[in-house]
Amino acid sequence: MAEHSSHAFDTHAIHAGREDLNALGVHVPPIDLSTTYPLGDLEGGGNSYETLATGQRPEDGATSMVYQRLWNPNVDRFERAMATLEGAEESVAYATGMAALTATLLACVAAGTPHIVAVRPLYGGSDHVLETGLLGTEVTWATTDTVSEAITPNTGLVILETPANPTLDLVDLAAIVAQAGDVPVMVDNTFATPVLQRPIDHGVTLVMHSATKFIGGHGDLLGGVISGPREWAVRLRQIRALTGALLHPLAAYQLHRGLQTLPIRIRAQQTTAAALADWLSTHPGVRHVHYPGIPGADPTGLVGRQMSGPGAVLAIAVAGGFEGARDFLERLQLVGHAVSLGGVDTLAQHPAGLTHRPVAASAKPHADVVRISVGLESLEDLRADLDQALRR
Ligand SMILES: Cc1ncc(COP(=O)(O)O)c(C=O)c1O
Repeated sequence: MAEHSSHAFDTHAIHAGREDLNALGVHVPPIDLSTTYPLGDLEGGGNSYETLATGQRPEDGATSMVYQRLWNPNVDRFERAMATLEGAEESVAYATGMAALTATLLACVAAGTPHIVAVRPLYGGSDHVLETGLLGTEVTWATTDTVSEAITPNTGLVILETPANPTLDLVDLAAIVAQAGDVPVMVDNTFATPVLQRPIDHGVTLVMHSATKFIGGHGDLLGGVISGPREWAVRLRQIRALTGALLHPLAAYQLHRGLQTLPIRIRAQQTTAAALADWLSTHPGVRHVHYPGIPGADPTGLVGRQMSGPGAVLAIAVAGGFEGARDFLERLQLVGHAVSLGGVDTLAQHPAGLTHRPVAASAKPHADVVRISVGLESLEDLRADLDQALRR
């Protein structure tokens, strides 16, 4: 459950999920790696199992945490902090972002509403799981203008990303929520993070993250999290307990720690990304820059109204088509040529060949597009590396 005091966002980022530490007499959260817990009397143990395996919280009637797959205190701390930052009632954390998406889709199937309306582009893995129908869902791909006509009586969710991976397209959340009517909308907020965008403030029901990215911030863990109303959290925790995709407690500890520097990391990375986007937009080796902060990229003014800044990820269409993009990636020296994003080090990758490889040909990113996640290195060093890779 989230803390909703009047403190500012940056203060919550430091203190949320840590409210009891003084009373415990410690400065940082203790790490609990127990896989199992003493049950006490059998009846109490059984009631605890029942409570947690059906997605309730310990305070709803559990006297023991029973088993790590059902409950873990470090995961709970991270979730409480995340819910506070997203302005949600509760959050539920998973082993990966894909596990978080899977749980949400399974919740729709279990509720008898397996039809999903999704707006492209989405992360390639999300696109793939929806397109294959592997989990029993059925997808209708909509544009931002055709969401309402794609909805059927069986629609369980509308799914979208903004900024989208990898084109950095922005979507007006309030407009989608209005089109969706009674159908809940889920936004993948991985690129913006709650530092720049809080979708629930715009009427969205569920917010998802690959916590692997900016929230962790250091490229050393996998995690996923969904934030939303308690009624959804109960269903999502039950699915997590039964399907077993709990976030590892050590990763939960690191993610909770990562939240403390999230605002300052995002703002610093964004400042460098904005300067690079500006510089790249006049570079002879670049055909086009995709970044919400450059002139003309945000005609309806969503940066400012919906997002407080354009973020730290950009994409470039490299001159010379696929060969130009490939040569650029292979010449990079300081910038890492690797998938993933959101860490303190700058990474570049080729979406059509890698993260969006499984996406249908008609929706695949162009072959000349390279995505760049900007880290915390010096602007001058990054510019020099990108320049030598684009020029040679
Ligand atoms: C926007 C977005 N959503 C979801 C995912 C999936 O997350 P994970 O890799 O943590 O399973 C990714 C991974 O790249 C992503 O970029």
